[in-house]
Formats: sequence, C-alpha cells, structure tokens
Amino acid sequence: MNPEPQNVLDYHGNNTIFMVWEFKQDTDVTTAFQKACALVINLNHSGNTRFPDSGATCVMGVGHDAWHRLGLPSPLPKELENFVPVVGATHTAVSTRGDLHFHLRGGGSSICYDMAAAITAVLAPVATSIEEVHGFRYWDGRSILGFVDGTENPQGDERAHFGLIGDEDPVYKGGSYLFVQKYIHDLSAFNALPVEEQEKVFGRHKWNDVEMPDDIKPANSHSALANVGDDLKVIRDNMPFGNMSSNEMGTYFIAYASTFSTVKKMLNNMFIGSPPGNYDRLLDFSTAKTGTLFFVPSATFLDNIGSGLPPLGGSSADDTGNDNDDDKAVVPNDGSLHIGSLKKGK
Ligand code: HEM
Repeated sequence: MNPEPQNVLDYHGNNTIFMVWEFKQDTDVTTAFQKACALVINLNHSGNTRFPDSGATCVMGVGHDAWHRLGLPSPLPKELENFVPVVGATHTAVSTRGDLHFHLRGGGSSICYDMAAAITAVLAPVATSIEEVHGFRYWDGRSILGFVDGTENPQGDERAHFGLIGDEDPVYKGGSYLFVQKYIHDLSAFNALPVEEQEKVFGRHKWNDVEMPDDIKPANSHSALANVGDDLKVIRDNMPFGNMSSNEMGTYFIAYASTFSTVKKMLNNMFIGSPPGNYDRLLDFSTAKTGTLFFVPSATFLDNIGSGLPPLGGSSADDTGNDNDDDKAVVPNDGSLHIGSLKKGK
C-alpha cells in the first residue's frame, strides 16, 4: 500500500501560522517527538471532521540534524542536508537553523491558534520556538507587495507529481522536501516605484495578474528567473505578514518539492543570476532573513511513530514470534528512537 502523504498538496488556507522549533541541548527529545507525531495525525483528522469545507491542516517537517538526533531511518532521504547558503555578488540566501517546522492552515485564525497551542504544550519542555509567523490571505491572494502570488503553481494532478517523492526514492515515497525563507520587504522603496516599474520587477501586470509577453518581460524579472522549465516546478504556499509597530512587512516563502535540486536551481537563478550577475530584481526590495530545509515524511511514517511502530512499517515486536518485552521498546531512554535501520526492528 502506498504511504499516505501529509497535507502538502492542499491549497492555501485563509490563515496560517508557521513555527520553527529548535531542540534544547542535553535533553531527551524522543518522547516529545513521538507525542508530536501522534498530535499531528490527531489535528488533521480533527480539522477534517470539524471543518470539512475550509479545512484545517497541520504539516510537520524535520531538519537534517534533528533527523540524526532522533535516530530516524538511515540512509536519509536522498537530498536532506543542512541548507548551504546561496551567495550572490549582491544578495545572499542565508541558512538558518531549525529542527522541526509546522505549517498550520485554517479557514479562521482560531483553529490555527489552537493547533499552535497544542503543539507548544508538547514541545515546550524539550524545545524552543525560534520563529513564528502569522500569515494571512491578503485580498485576492496577493503578496504584501500587491501582486497575486501563486498563479503559476502546478494545478490538479501535476501537484502530486511536483510536490511528492515517487519511485525515485521508494523508501521515502509520499514524502516531500520543504524549503522556507522569511523575507522582509522594503515596502517604502517598492511602493515609490511607478506601477509600470513594479510590473517589470515581477514580469506580470499588477491588477489583472497577466504575464508579460516574453519579448517585453525583463530578463531580471522574478518570473523570468524563477521559472526554470516546465518539467521543474514546486508547490509554493507563500503567505504575507505585516507588523506596523516593528515595520516588518514580509513574505513567508514556503515550497514543497519532490526534489530539492529544483528549489536550488531557482535560488541560484535568483541570487547568483542567469547569466551570473543578472540577479532577480525582486531581491532589491526583499531580504531573506531565514532559510531552512526540512523533510516532510509521509503521514503514515508519523502515524507509525506516534503509535510506537517503526516509521517505515513493520512491527516493533519481533516477527519471529518472540514475545520478549525488550523487543517492543521503540522509544528507549537513551535519547534515540532506535529506528535508524531501514531493515526495521531495533
Ligand atoms: C520575496 C519573496 C517572494 C515573493 C513576494 C514572490 C512572489 C511571486 C509572485 C507574485 C509570482 C507571480 C505569480 C505566481 O506565479 O505565483 C511569483 C512566481 C514564482 N515564484 Fe516567487 N516570490 C518570492 C520568492 C520566491 C522564491 C524564493 C522562489 C524559489 C526558490 C520563487 C519561485 C517562484 C516561481 C517558480 C514562480 C513562477 C514563475 C513562472 O513560472 O512564471 N519565488 N512569485
């Protein structure tokens, strides 16, 4: 049976909370992680039952170092690594830490708040929340810069093709690479541009969201550089956020992809430029403050851990019929889930 993916293919909710957590040093984190896995499954089932129309979903991603610390299966998902910064001559895509990432979506902000509170209750004893962004749907799906964000996303069946791992990494089928960046915009500078100049930054028209023809679209526009080909796409779920008192207006960039190399290609084009030096003009008005890669295992994987089973299937008990209680321990007290072997067992 194919593993059930987490809700990475859902369309935007009207409200979102993004949370990044870092595990505390010298703390046993395995029991809390096991509880978090069970909680994610619970929250999604509950959201589906309580709000079948608007949806309320929770997606959890795990960082490279956390994967090792938790003793999750080895070999790792093929492209899971600590994000290496992309350094251009003018702008840099920085790399920042993160052990767990939560993407909470809902029709209203109450359900997002409740999901965040439930997750915090489980994780706070063993981890610190190092980033929390509350995103909202801005008018008809616009970024805070005023341009509709998400139009060229894959639609329909294409979403699973570009968003989920398939047979190329069979062990992690149904999983996804998750890359996030928190951008802060220089809104005053952007809004000071005449609309025609703003449109050249994106390569699209502002009010009707129509793409400029190729012979007019500038080579350093966002859509010219971020488009790396029809067979290389990702699922973007960006949300705007804004805080007047701290003057922090931004975009939480979030992409789910079947291959991280596709995201890297886009980042190289944007930050280094194509050809090098022809970098994305959007970056003159947007600074990446964070940048972290996570892996989103399938829901089946999380469900197994939450139920005390090996994440990739099988039983925690000895298949040979040996009922020795020692064989059933999946979460021993030595800081490891003892599930690192793909061959299952201890
Ligand atoms: C400052 C943060 C960003 C903002 C405000 C932003 C906004 C937008 C907007 C308004 C569009 C045009 C409409 C659409 O198709 O969605 C767009 C397109 C796109 N963006 Fe971004 N974006 C940001 C960062 C990124 C990053 C970091 C990547 C990739 C790593 C990316 C990848 C893409 C792609 C692939 C497209 C579609 C291009 C096409 O096929 O025409 N964006 N973005």
